[in-house]
This record gives sequence, C-alpha cells and structure tokens, in this order.
Amino acid sequence: MGRLDNKVAVITGAASGMGRASAMRFAAEGAAVVVADLNAQGAEGVVAEIAAHGGRAVFQRTDVTSENDIKALIDRAVREFGRLDITFNNAGLGGATGKLEEVTVEDWDKTFHVLTRAVFLGIKHSVGPMRKNGGGSIISTSSMGGIRPAAGLTAYCAAKAAVVNLTMAAAIEYGHDHIRVNCICPGGILTPLVYRGQPGGEEAAAKNMARAQPIPRAGLPEDIANMALFLASDESEWITGTAMMVDGGMNTGNARIRFGTGWSGPSFERRER
Ligand SMILES: NC(=O)c1ccc[n+]([C@@H]2O[C@H](COP(=O)([O-])OP(=O)(O)OC[C@H]3O[C@@H](n4cnc5c(N)ncnc54)[C@H](O)[C@@H]3O)[C@@H](O)[C@H]2O)c1
Repeated sequence: MGRLDNKVAVITGAASGMGRASAMRFAAEGAAVVVADLNAQGAEGVVAEIAAHGGRAVFQRTDVTSENDIKALIDRAVREFGRLDITFNNAGLGGATGKLEEVTVEDWDKTFHVLTRAVFLGIKHSVGPMRKNGGGSIISTSSMGGIRPAAGLTAYCAAKAAVVNLTMAAAIEYGHDHIRVNCICPGGILTPLVYRGQPGGEEAAAKNMARAQPIPRAGLPEDIANMALFLASDESEWITGTAMMVDGGMNTGNARIRFGTGWSGPSFERRER
C-alpha cells in the first residue's frame, strides 16, 4: 500500500531538484503524476524514470507564469487520470539579486511572476477540480528567505514571503471544501539552482552548505520530497495554512550564510559580490 494510492498529483518545476525528487517519491507511493516544467528534456527523463520503476506519469510543458498554461496543466491531469488531488506549486528560480537600489523593475516583476503569481494561478485552477473530489492538498514552495529575509535577495525574499501569506489566506477560504493549503520553507538545498555555473559545482556547494545550519550537511531534494509527501498524504489531513520549515535548523538564526553571495543562495542573471 502506497501513501498516495489512487491520488493524482501535479508538480511544477518537476524536471529538476526538489520537484524531480517529489515526482519520483509521489509516484513510488502510488500517485499518478503530471510532471510540469519548461525544461522538456529534463521532464521527459523524470517521466521515463518513473515508468521504469512501474509508476505512472506524463509530461505537460508549462510556463507557470502563464494562466493558459496552468489551466491546461490542471485540465491535463483530469483528462489523463480522471481527477486532481494534489498540486505542488514548486517551480522557481533565484530571481533578481544584488542591492535593492540596483534591481530593475523588470527583474523584480519577473521574480514575482515566477515565484508568486504562479502560486496564485496554481491554487486558482486547482480548487475547482479538487472540490469535485471532496477535497485535496495544495502545497507550494516558499523559502526560509520568505520568513527570514537576507540582504542581496530582496525580490526573492519578498516574493517567498507573499507565498506564505497567500497560503494562509487560501487555507482560510478553502478549509470548508476540505482543500488544505500549505507551503514548505526549505533552507539551503543542494539543487542545480544553487550550484549551476558555480566553480567546483555540486561537490564544493555541498561542502559550503554543510556549514550553513546546525545540522552539518547540505539539505537534499529528498528532504523536501519527504515533507511534500507528508503534506500530500492523508496523514496531514488536519494541517492547513502552515509554513513548514525544512532547513536543518537554519531558522534558529545560527546560519553563517548570506543569501545572494557566492555559494550561499540561488541567483539568475546577475550576481553581485
Ligand atoms: N535550492 C534551494 O536552496 C532553495 C531554497 C529555498 C527555496 N527554493 C525554491 O525551491 C523551488 C525548487 O527549486 P530547486 O532548488 O529544486 O531548483 P531547480 O533549478 O533544480 O528546479 C527548478 C525547476 O523550475 C523550473 N522552472 C523555472 N521557471 C519556470 C517556469 N516559468 N515555468 C515552469 N517551470 C519553471 C526549472 O526549469 C527547473 O526545472 C523553487 O521555488 C525555489 O525558489 C530553493
């Protein structure tokens, strides 16, 4: 018996990192998974791996900033597998980095589109089909940065903080429908988002990130998949409106890390030092 038997899940950003690990885990626990991403090659790889392990998955190319794409994604889940039980709004990027006064409006907006508007769209289009089943679980990826902001990543931290509040507001609106809405706040997780293009790659990042929190190892995508699985399953049926920290204790304030510099955090486009 799997923990997600007979459930249908949509996961965005599932071609890589936490989304990929969650897709594999959800499928191993019995869910049929719609793997959504812009990265078709990576996503097809995840679908093939799930199939090779006897699971069920399909790829739906999705730009999470597009309402049409999100609607098509949810429709695909229902058309392909007959229902929707779980939506994991996880796709993301580091967004605009550098000093606030140097962040362009364009980069600010892009960061919010991918990290916040996409979550709004994911919730908006999931609640209808979930209500038809008598309930469901919506999970979104916020960040430790959404709770404890840091210099150099203002747009990211603000966008992720918005995800926490959006989660709580939506939890209030949809509790009566038995639709649970929660988010996860990862600490530093060893994914391509963090080490892509960095000198020393994954190995050097792992070493550096091991020092960033009380538990002396880098967070792994599977650490997030474990929490996502719990929130997706019926084991969490009385939990809604929460922001679950999965961070090796980073939230205690012991972190010796500065987001947005060197190895310490995700970024795209620019990296100010
Ligand atoms: N890695 C960390 O330390 C860390 C910490 C806290 C929060 N997060 C958040 O975790 C989530 C997952 O990131 P990850 O670390 O697994 O990174 P990742 O780069 O490994 O995976 C992110 C995935 O999102 C996809 N994506 C990006 N923009 C998209 C778009 N517009 N439409 C569809 N897909 C898109 C990418 O193609 C990629 O496959 C993100 O929301 C990120 O902000 C990461």
